[in-house]
Amino acid sequence: MKPILVTGGAGFLGSHLCERLLSDGQEVVCVDNFFTGAKGNIQNLIGKSGFELMRHDVTFPLYIEIRQIYNLACPASPIHYQHDPVQTTKTSVHGAINMLGLAKRTRARILQASTSEVYGDPEVHPQPESYWGRVNPIGIRACYDEGKRCAETLFFDYWRQHKLDIKVMRIFNTYGPRMHPSDGRVVSNFIVQAIRGEPITVCGDGSQTRSFCYVSDLIDGMVGFMGTPADLVGPLNFGNPGEYSILQLAETVIRLAGTRSRIIFGPLPRDDPRQRKPDITLAEKTLGWRPKVSLEDGLKETITYFRHRLRP
Ligand SMILES: NC(=O)c1ccc[n+]([C@@H]2O[C@H](COP(=O)([O-])OP(=O)(O)OC[C@H]3O[C@@H](n4cnc5c(N)ncnc54)[C@H](O)[C@@H]3O)[C@@H](O)[C@H]2O)c1
Repeated sequence: MKPILVTGGAGFLGSHLCERLLSDGQEVVCVDNFFTGAKGNIQNLIGKSGFELMRHDVTFPLYIEIRQIYNLACPASPIHYQHDPVQTTKTSVHGAINMLGLAKRTRARILQASTSEVYGDPEVHPQPESYWGRVNPIGIRACYDEGKRCAETLFFDYWRQHKLDIKVMRIFNTYGPRMHPSDGRVVSNFIVQAIRGEPITVCGDGSQTRSFCYVSDLIDGMVGFMGTPADLVGPLNFGNPGEYSILQLAETVIRLAGTRSRIIFGPLPRDDPRQRKPDITLAEKTLGWRPKVSLEDGLKETITYFRHRLRP
């Protein structure tokens, strides 16, 4: 049996996916250029039979024999993807072209880790897959949002034109152990600030909402979707429909971390969406998938991880 390729396999989601596939008895090739990923995330997998690590940038073609591709390579946090926006677009677009080319040559099934950011700052709430989105094409988030939108276009064109076996999942805000401590994402930010006893920085008045999916739920959905019949191509939303204001999140983190951090308020970043909540009706209907981990339980696991990681 040929192995499964995970691009971005040393990142937050990728490392959990590699771990899950290996524990399911699959052989895994993990490809990463370590832009935001780290060997530490896959330390427990290196040397295990069935696991192979390859340093490679997906903006360059890759010639290996595989039977499935999970295409996760792309920095996901605004701090990281805005650091080199041209490279971000290249990773999404050239990366998709290269991985789709590989899938075409090997006739491998390919899954794209797309994002709720394709909906931009939505006028429809919650967002179903049929909503086309409202993205500023020239803003500072466009390298990511438009890059991911273009990748979706490529996936569907390869599907129509070359009859490729594709799956496109739109991932909503996911959190958990192995998030990068300084990637600026709201959950890791708040937890790191709380553990250090620093003020919790809420952008705007904190009334903007987000939904938070725990990583194990997301990986269940990803592997489940990959195993569905070929006619289920997506796009499918995956996320936790529980909706919380950023202020509520800050208060929950402070309580669970048992810190005396106070909350301070700062300016809202440009093009920051007001509301974000997935409509997961389709994933529920077609896969029977629904997240199981509550925000409190997920936050407790994540706080434990960061306490360990930030220990001097
Ligand atoms: N975590 C979320 O909430 C979320 C939400 C929506 C979409 N996603 C998508 O899921 C995927 C994984 O996200 P994550 O949260 O694990 O982010 P991450 O930054 O932790 O992981 C991305 C991985 O891709 C690697 N990478 C980046 N550019 C590369 C390149 N050119 N070649 C090879 N490897 C490269 C990085 O080194 C890193 O290991 C991304 O595609 C992201 O857009 C994540």
